[in-house]
Amino acid sequence: TKIQQDEDFRPNYHFTPEVNWMNDPNGMFYMNGTYHLFFQYYPDGNKWGPMHWGHATSKDMVVWEEQPIALKPDEKGYIFSGSAVVDKNNSSGFGDGKTPPVIAMFTYHDPEGEKAGRKDYQSQAIAYSLDEGKTWTKYKENPVIKNPGLKDFRDPKITWDEAHKQWLMVLSADDRTIFYTSQNLKDWQKASEFGMGLGAHNGVWECPDFFPMKVEGSNETKWVLIQSLNPGGYNGGSGTQYFVGDFDGKKFSVIKEMKDLPGDHSYWIDYGKDNYAGVTWSNIPESDGRKLFMGWMSNWLYAQEVPTETWRSAMTIARELKLKKDEKAGYRIFSSPVKELDKYFGEATGTKNTQAKAGQNIIENKDLDLAKARIGFSIDSLQDRTYEFSLNNPEGDTLRFGYDHTQKQFYVNRKKSGITDFGENFASPVSTAPRTSEADNLPVEIFLDKTSIEIFYDNGETVMTEIFFPTRPYKSFTAGKGEDFSIKNLKTSKFDIPENQK
Ligand code: FRU
Repeated sequence: TKIQQDEDFRPNYHFTPEVNWMNDPNGMFYMNGTYHLFFQYYPDGNKWGPMHWGHATSKDMVVWEEQPIALKPDEKGYIFSGSAVVDKNNSSGFGDGKTPPVIAMFTYHDPEGEKAGRKDYQSQAIAYSLDEGKTWTKYKENPVIKNPGLKDFRDPKITWDEAHKQWLMVLSADDRTIFYTSQNLKDWQKASEFGMGLGAHNGVWECPDFFPMKVEGSNETKWVLIQSLNPGGYNGGSGTQYFVGDFDGKKFSVIKEMKDLPGDHSYWIDYGKDNYAGVTWSNIPESDGRKLFMGWMSNWLYAQEVPTETWRSAMTIARELKLKKDEKAGYRIFSSPVKELDKYFGEATGTKNTQAKAGQNIIENKDLDLAKARIGFSIDSLQDRTYEFSLNNPEGDTLRFGYDHTQKQFYVNRKKSGITDFGENFASPVSTAPRTSEADNLPVEIFLDKTSIEIFYDNGETVMTEIFFPTRPYKSFTAGKGEDFSIKNLKTSKFDIPENQK
């Protein structure tokens, strides 16, 4: 039956709603030991519909507990994407003196206005919570930012800007990012605009995020703008690019390498087709200091058609972002799986140097359940050739991926990965990613779940995340194509919930 198939596809360790439709992560904040994740949610169907904010909580960004719906549509419209911050000093005045208020900012999308052909049907609004995100009250003076006459005007992301002692908010408007500042989270002043003609533009800009980052191993700080767009992603459909630069409290100016970026530039958070609208958590304590990120693991090209019925869409694993400066590649965002995942993936089952023989299994399911696996290795002394890997089942489904060193290009090929006929753009074209690292060895780390692969190449300098739907679980991890090659330091481990946590 369908339900059976749905549960066969439901991830082992990625967040999915119990039932129905989910898209973007929203309002992620941390407070008193709990990570909050809100998400675009339609509780009455398995396709996009009138948007709510669903809610889930976690102690570690790995195991999630779904909570009651946080925000529901009302006469002003649907509740589109947005963010949340803990207002520690009660600058908003919503606090009751007991616990700091949490302020969520979201976009009202008025479907009536849209139907009537008006341009101003999206505006920005706020809601506050006095019980750490459990229940919310919408501000009675909403909207706090009216629409100035822009068709796409949405997805506010708030950050506290310590350098300039102000609340800072970015939102997307069609082909640009607009910056606003505030002292009280209610009155917002427009500060500047960014991006027209810069970066990838074959679609609408959506879901920005903007924050300062320390450049690893230095005292330098740069500002990073994450800017999703749909369509127009590097491999088609939805994709998330980023920009690096400086911010004077009002205006963002990109570094000179980015002044004239072509549409197919190489600054993307993830090159796979399935990591969209990702943003970072707010209020991570200074003592922790990480930039923590999560994205929606799907793509508007086919998200509403993927072969699950009871639930639709999962989130990526949580990732830590770092900004590094490389002599040749310049400023680059590196992503790595959050360290909290380590405790679920237990001890590695052994480290060995393996000769990867073309067409032979490197790992079989009897040794490691490939539907909940973490696999790491490296390929040393890269030669001018292709290093291919595949996941296979006896039914003949095969997901192929690897690295072509002659082209300096990674790829994921879903053509024969299983069920692919639900969307024209799912299986083709093959996704590719340019390699920006010049290193002579290639470290690879892979996270496998029932329906997804997240590949971190070069310690996260290039990432590819894709979903798949094999007719039966993949049973082997195999090397393919051409001459044998060696893989070094093979480490494998399996996802498990520790005994004391079950
Ligand atoms: C991105 C997006 C946002 C919007 C939301 C609506 O996936 O289109 O721009 O707020 O989804 O669900």
